[in-house]
Amino acid sequence: MGENDTKILADDQLEHFNTELMIPKYWDVFNENLVQHIRTDKYFEVLDIGGGNGAFADALIRRFPMLVVTVLDNSEYLLSHNKPHPRKKLIYGSATELDKVLGERSYDLITFNWVLHHLVGETRRQSLDIVRNTLADARLHLRPEGVISVVENLYPGLIFDRYPGAFIFKLTNIKNPAIAGVVRRVGFNTAGVGVDFMSPKLIRELIDEAGLYISTEGLYDRWGYNPLIRLGLLTKPMRMENLWLRAAY
Ligand SMILES: C[S@@+](CC[C@H](N)C(=O)[O-])C[C@H]1O[C@@H](n2cnc3c(N)ncnc32)[C@H](O)[C@@H]1O
Repeated sequence: MGENDTKILADDQLEHFNTELMIPKYWDVFNENLVQHIRTDKYFEVLDIGGGNGAFADALIRRFPMLVVTVLDNSEYLLSHNKPHPRKKLIYGSATELDKVLGERSYDLITFNWVLHHLVGETRRQSLDIVRNTLADARLHLRPEGVISVVENLYPGLIFDRYPGAFIFKLTNIKNPAIAGVVRRVGFNTAGVGVDFMSPKLIRELIDEAGLYISTEGLYDRWGYNPLIRLGLLTKPMRMENLWLRAAY
């Protein structure tokens, strides 16, 4: 694998994402942040990275008549489930190769909804480098007043801040089919391929290193999990955060 290559989920694992993750209470937080950054009564262009089946893009199209949205995904399977629309474009390509895929194109809003933790390399360290590089590259495709919206499930460690993410990374990287099967049944549908969850502190460090700063932030959800799982993962409740980022320079 090259330094920015990421692992790809099988179609049956991707089928879990062939759904609509945004529920009304998440939209409330997203909209509140959106109107602080973008004049939605004027033409604006959105790039939804890892936009999969286009459910989020379709909802944006319905809500904002002045918007044009491009869905970028590295799964042909999920892209093929997109409903065509005159204000929707599709790009087949990887989030880790934005310069190659986008060329000179730039956007008013770039969204990463539950995508960054799927940018998984050979090691945890390499995966975090990929996340940082991807955010830094996205920054170069923002228009002057452009903004990035990130949604991530974040695990703050109970004792060591980065431990839950590192442990889940190891667990979901086990290739043995029997063990991967168990990991999958416990609820990690990325078993055998890996997933790179961060803590609230770690994602903020990577955002800073990518030349971005947090302009506003919101909380979509907070899950306590069953106490046994929480203890096993040594995690505080998971926080589903929506972070809005601007270029720092
Ligand atoms: C959890 S799903 C989220 C889908 C969608 N953003 C949503 O909110 O419903 C993760 C998505 O990221 C895509 N993805 C994973 N790695 C990617 C990469 N390197 N480049 C582009 N898309 C990627 C997957 O194909 C999938 O569509």
